[in-house]
Amino acid sequence: MPNLDARLQAALHLIQAETHADIGSDHAHLPIRLAQLGRITRGVIVEVNSGPLEHARVNVARAGLTDRLEVRAGNGLAPLAPGEVQSASMTGMGAQTMLGILTRTPGRVPDALVLQPNDSPEPLRRWAQESSYHVAAEVLAPGFWRYPVLRLERQSGPDPAYAGLPGNAALRYGPLLLREGSGLLREQVAADIARLTPLAAPGRAAEHDLHVAQSAAVWLSGNRK
Ligand SMILES: C[S@@+](CC[C@H](N)C(=O)[O-])C[C@H]1O[C@@H](n2cnc3c(N)ncnc32)[C@H](O)[C@@H]1O
Repeated sequence: MPNLDARLQAALHLIQAETHADIGSDHAHLPIRLAQLGRITRGVIVEVNSGPLEHARVNVARAGLTDRLEVRAGNGLAPLAPGEVQSASMTGMGAQTMLGILTRTPGRVPDALVLQPNDSPEPLRRWAQESSYHVAAEVLAPGFWRYPVLRLERQSGPDPAYAGLPGNAALRYGPLLLREGSGLLREQVAADIARLTPLAAPGRAAEHDLHVAQSAAVWLSGNRK
């Protein structure tokens, strides 16, 4: 069984489906583990690059899962038929790459998504708000950085996760993560304030980012668990 690091372990716990696609899978550790643990019945693995595609094929064959995990060459969600999978994951890529994948093939985005970007998930939270997806779960996984892992689900109406929160802070740090107020998130906000304070000057992006971090800190200090 492949060993999953904390970010992939967090993603694993947010996935439970009959049919699931892992996009940009490389070693395919996540879908292999999902199938081995019975968290998915059938999986599709999509890879755009030939080296990682071969890596996925070899590992799926070694795990004896070729009857349940199909490896397809292609870009993002394009190799999937509309409605083919209940959920999809993307992990270990930049948020802008994920955003490109989601916006290029809107008719193929499934009802549930599990996303672990390597940088700020803010553009993905904004996309979710504009595209009728709610934040159903959020986890901050420890590692080289703090990795946010999001589960988004298609729902109509405004996302109740954001109600009563400072909007920009919730988009930056995560509405459910802010409500949870974990030590890891508090450390992240404090580190952002320390990093941004000497950079902030009127009109600079750092000034805006500092205000966002400060409003998160104010909300967290008023909502101590
Ligand atoms: C850094 S690896 C992450 C591997 C694994 N998901 C993880 O989290 O450990 C990113 C992978 O995404 C693949 N990839 C990047 N853009 C893609 C796209 N548009 N469609 C499919 N795969 C893509 C790359 O080939 C690469 O194997």
